[in-house]
Amino acid sequence: MQIIKINATHPEPLKIRIAANVIRSGGLVAFPTETVYGLGAAVLDAAAVREIFKVKKRPFTDPLIVHIAAKQDYFSLADETSKLAERFMERFWPGPLTLIAKKSSIVPEIVTAGLNTVAIRMPAHKIALSLIKTVGMPVAAPSANLFGRPSPTTAQHVSDDFADKLELIIDGGGTTIGVESTVLDLTAIPPQILRPGGITREEIEETIGGKVTLFSAQKHGNLSGKTSVPSPGMMNTHYAPRAKLIFVEGDCTSVVRKVQKLADSFGQQGKKVVIMAMDESISNYNGFSVRSFGKRDDPKSCAYNLFSVLRSIDKEETDIIIAESVVSDGLGLAVVDRLRKAATAIF
Ligand code: TXA
Ligand code: MG
Repeated sequence: MQIIKINATHPEPLKIRIAANVIRSGGLVAFPTETVYGLGAAVLDAAAVREIFKVKKRPFTDPLIVHIAAKQDYFSLADETSKLAERFMERFWPGPLTLIAKKSSIVPEIVTAGLNTVAIRMPAHKIALSLIKTVGMPVAAPSANLFGRPSPTTAQHVSDDFADKLELIIDGGGTTIGVESTVLDLTAIPPQILRPGGITREEIEETIGGKVTLFSAQKHGNLSGKTSVPSPGMMNTHYAPRAKLIFVEGDCTSVVRKVQKLADSFGQQGKKVVIMAMDESISNYNGFSVRSFGKRDDPKSCAYNLFSVLRSIDKEETDIIIAESVVSDGLGLAVVDRLRKAATAIF
């Protein structure tokens, strides 16, 4: 496996060509975007796309996003367009917004997991854009992590997950947003957010001039709000660290009280506990092991730190992570979504 450093603001054309050639000859390349790192293959190369699923250990039923470098490529991947889709492209591309549209016949079935829709996004990252342009066709790419693990925001995270299983990783430094793109289904009426992300619900509603629905896959688990000692391990998790993650929701005071109680109780059982807290409440947890992941009134900072904090706590061989909730405004909605999906129990 090779890691090449490429300048994020002025990508060196020669290095981009090396990476593009790997993709053009059927290989996979991990590359940075503004949200998280992606693992790319040429969209029309069904064998290479199949390889993405295999190395990620991702089920073939989970479709990939097609990344483009020019807005007009949307029109060859999508079977139809609408004024609304064009308004979104105009306003948010390049950027952290993925649009779901009816697929055209050129998109291989393996990319869309057999669905008749396709997910399309134009990333706002110079390396991603010049890589796709140099490949000469759109690039299908999921996040560059093993299935179920936290998404990667650095090249190191990618190599931690795949060791030497990838031919090439582009190291373009840390990503700037830290959570994935918003997935917006424009084939639904009204449009539906399938995954909250880098473009906020508020921005989407303002663009539509009306409400948008938010898809929610309710997880089973302890949602009763009672602070008894949970039995982690019964929920299917996504974006998850190796440690069990317990997510605590509610108003500030009750969150702090619940977190203290849970940390005490797991500590007494001899578990290694780390608390993920807002800057402002760290002082409530003296005597516990605590990591900040942002400021309460700045959900952007929480999004930026989320996955890297989860990954770094994992390196300390922690048993239990107890995470404080975040306000769900702006980027906070995506942070709450990821923490709920990563959790083995929610209080
Ligand atoms: O920011 C991002 O979106 C990153 C970077 C690399 O671009 N990519 C990313 O890809 O997060 P991935 O594969 O980890 O997540 C794609 C999401 C999945 O939840 C998938 O189910 C959904 O998009 N998706 C893809 N195609 C879809 C479709 N046709 N209909 C509904 N959902 C779709
Ligand atoms: Mg992913």
